[in-house]
Amino acid sequence: KPAFFQVAIDGPASAGKSTIAKILASNLHYVYVDTGAMYRAITVAAKKAGLSYEDEAGIKALLPKTSIEFKPGTPVQRVFLNGEEVTEEIRSTEITNNVSLVSSYAAVRSDMVDKQRKMTEENPVIMDGRDIGTTVLPDAQVKIFLVASVSERAERRYKENKEKGMTVDLETLKKEIEARDYKDSHREISPLTKASDAIEVDTTGVSIEEVVNTIQDLISKQQ
Ligand code: CDP
Ligand code: CDP
Repeated sequence: KPAFFQVAIDGPASAGKSTIAKILASNLHYVYVDTGAMYRAITVAAKKAGLSYEDEAGIKALLPKTSIEFKPGTPVQRVFLNGEEVTEEIRSTEITNNVSLVSSYAAVRSDMVDKQRKMTEENPVIMDGRDIGTTVLPDAQVKIFLVASVSERAERRYKENKEKGMTVDLETLKKEIEARDYKDSHREISPLTKASDAIEVDTTGVSIEEVVNTIQDLISKQQ
């Protein structure tokens, strides 16, 4: 078992992974690693370099010269790409709709997985993403697979967007989420799947507080 405690949270888009992981990390004093933000940041790097998202070789060549850093912030962690803040840009519609393609490239995945494993060497972590329980942290003490119905997930995204002043209609959001889930579940390398030893938690109609309590109980049992 890993020297420092590891909690892996995987699941489809808008299942509540980052919301839940952030609260748990703060309650337990663990380091929170948002791996989706890292894939989003490399997608922004491709855009800034003027590359097409289809340009796998070009994006691979960017990796050795790309640094991604997290800094504390509220309500969200701040994300820096090569020293420049990209906290908002990584959540734009263009990046959201192209991140699954960039994330499917072998070189991108192996580079991100190396970086993510390094982050577990000195602290207990709670890490969320798509392949954490299956690939990044296969020995994690606790593995959670968070799910919710697609209509509930689209409504959550709709509410978030509305608060930010974005006006994408619910049907479009639903289609975008389904398209991204499909790509993430069907890619060749470490697709989104539930690890055989992960516990599935359905958050449809369940409050954030209840989900946090459920998972915190599961963690206490393993400590
Ligand atoms: O927050 P949201 O569910 O929209 O997604 P995210 O966690 O920010 O992840 C964005 C995208 O990054 C996902 O749709 C995947 O394509 C990719 N990703 C991945 O391939 N592997 C991970 N461990 C995390 C994210
Ligand atoms: O990280 P992921 O894409 O899985 O989801 P998220 O960004 O944490 O959550 C999407 C939205 O769902 C957030 O606005 C949460 O406040 C909301 N949420 C909820 O309403 N009920 C839950 N049980 C969990 C999350």
